[in-house]
Amino acid sequence: MELVVQPLGRSFAVKAGDNLLEVLQANGVPVSYSCRAGRCGTCRCKLVEGKVLESAGDAKLTNPGGGSHVLACMSVLTESCVVEIPEPDEIVAHPARILKASVVAIEDLTHDIKRLVLKSPKPLSFSAGQYAILQFTPEHIRPYSMAGVADDDTLEFHIRKVPGGRVTGYVFDTLKLGDAVRVSGPMGTAYLRRKHEGPVLCIAGGTGLAPVLSIVRAATALKMTNPIHLYFGVRSSADVYGQAWLDELAQRNPNLHVHVVIATNEPGTRHRVGLVTDAVSADWSDLRDWRAYLCGAPPMVEAATLIAKARGIAMEHIYADAFYASP
Ligand code: FES
Repeated sequence: MELVVQPLGRSFAVKAGDNLLEVLQANGVPVSYSCRAGRCGTCRCKLVEGKVLESAGDAKLTNPGGGSHVLACMSVLTESCVVEIPEPDEIVAHPARILKASVVAIEDLTHDIKRLVLKSPKPLSFSAGQYAILQFTPEHIRPYSMAGVADDDTLEFHIRKVPGGRVTGYVFDTLKLGDAVRVSGPMGTAYLRRKHEGPVLCIAGGTGLAPVLSIVRAATALKMTNPIHLYFGVRSSADVYGQAWLDELAQRNPNLHVHVVIATNEPGTRHRVGLVTDAVSADWSDLRDWRAYLCGAPPMVEAATLIAKARGIAMEHIYADAFYASP
């Protein structure tokens, strides 16, 4: 049995029962991973030829690329096959950890969004754009994206209250300063690709701004010179938040262009009105060679994926972890 790994063009002798991620790692193939348990989606790669036996993982991540993708950590080899690993020069490997953190700030960003800041004795290593699972109690567990960068000594999250939502209800009504929170991660594939030198499109819906802020903050800190167009879509002007952070980032990073779009037409508003995806569609006819980071509710991410694809962005360069639907 043989395993061929593209685009490296390397091949290895393997045997039935071998775990794909372990084979790749044992042979020095650069491959991203985190949880090793089918939860985070970081180790996703494309199965070009052949079949693998997939153990049940629970990565509830969109797969904008479609096609035959498998989670390497959950794949058992049963026959010769060809796999394609994503961007071998853009590997992130932050082994998943569980940290005990505590709440050091919890404050209102809008009428229904809170900024939660956690501090743990040890820092969490992650790539900008990734997320973690927060466990407030054994019954209140939910994934949230980090809004800061890994060098910060705290972890920042943006949490929107979902009407009737059990977990977000707990965060809004019960969680207080000093409470312990278990943080598991990092997870996710929509992390900043540092080696890309061309333009970048970020589309954030609501609290999808958190991972986009992380990406823009990291790109700015790294002094990346890519043109970045950040579209931030919300329902109304009351839902716009983070304007001061965005203004400050735009001052420090002259390549950053921020477009705030509200869905509801309000008399006298200074914001652009309409759907954020329509704004992108109207502004750009050709996005070839761009990279896109899409963060928000699944319907927005799906619509944005279609537009990015229609404007020429290769599917493997559209990054999205849409997991914001559940309360
Ligand atoms: Fe495979 Fe997380 S490392 S899904």
